Amino acid sequence: MKSVLFSRFFILLPWILIVIIMLDVDTRRPAPPLTPRPYFSPYAAGRGGPRLPLRSRRAGPVRGVEKRNESRQQPPPQPQLPTIYAITPTYSRPVQKAELTRLANTFRQVAQLHWILVEDAAARSELVSRFLARAGLPSTHLHVPTPRRYKRPGLPRATEQRNAGLAWLRQRHQHQRAQPGVLFFADDDNTYSLELFQEMRTTRKVSVWPVGLVGGRRYERPLVENGKVVGWYTGWRADRPFAIDMAGFAVSLQVILSNPKAVFKRRGSQPGMQESDFLKQITTVEELEPKANNCTKVLVWHTRTEKVNLANEPKYHLDTVKIEV
Ligand code: UGA
Ligand code: MN
Repeated sequence: MKSVLFSRFFILLPWILIVIIMLDVDTRRPAPPLTPRPYFSPYAAGRGGPRLPLRSRRAGPVRGVEKRNESRQQPPPQPQLPTIYAITPTYSRPVQKAELTRLANTFRQVAQLHWILVEDAAARSELVSRFLARAGLPSTHLHVPTPRRYKRPGLPRATEQRNAGLAWLRQRHQHQRAQPGVLFFADDDNTYSLELFQEMRTTRKVSVWPVGLVGGRRYERPLVENGKVVGWYTGWRADRPFAIDMAGFAVSLQVILSNPKAVFKRRGSQPGMQESDFLKQITTVEELEPKANNCTKVLVWHTRTEKVNLANEPKYHLDTVKIEV
């Protein structure tokens, strides 16, 4: 009797071991994160590894041995995604951290994006430095103050800051062959859909698309015929060669590097003309690449945050703690 039990035990033993090993392997596999990890090492481009590009999850069997074996295979190497460089001018004001928080929450969901944040200030502020260190994004933190004489209503904003971003990009790529890249000027107060980044990533030279809530209209857009831009739907100065807002175009890194003198100009530039003056230096209307379904979809909105009411803010600090807002 005893020996029968023993022999049964030895027959079953390998099977029991196999089941234990399989259960163990299964529980060791980490659960896929719902969203890309929020806090990986910031600063350097590419550190933290490539994150998930915007794409739908593959459908297919979720359970079973077959799936498990499949997931252990190496994924096929992906062609290199062009890096999106987003240049954001920003300045100190009560809503600054709130604006930057919204922006970072968007950018964190975009694969291979490098954020060039340029403070309109004589030095890097602690608020922005601390914010970027925790933002979980590859980023570069620059600063340049707008000369006082240009800080007047009616004059263009953020000229020096965008130029500082351009100079950094050119300097960074001066010695190496340009990696594929796309530059986009992302003001800190606009609203950006994730689809916009998919559209702009395929920019070959200069791409354009509609912008919502701008120019005194619900939207402005390039008019497209047979895949080419032939005019502009706009409520404001339709005579501009490129009647488009800063949020309505992207430029390939290659074009930025091969036009080293193209910058935003103070002299002779009026508000609302900066975009047109800049684009004139690097492209022609015929060359523009329409995105967003031949410029029929709004994927970015020129939202503006209202000035906050601080009427009840005490003159001197009354609270027992000091809080960054
Ligand atoms: C419109 C355009 O959408 C801007 O791209 C353009 O720079 C601006 O007009 C202009 O007049 O030059 P608007 O909403 O009126 O935009 O401008 P803001 O959002 O106030 O400023 C644009 C960017 O410059 C923002 O990212 C903002 O943070 C930054 N900024 C603004 C500064 O860095 N310094 C300032 O003194 C003001
Ligand atoms: Mn704005």
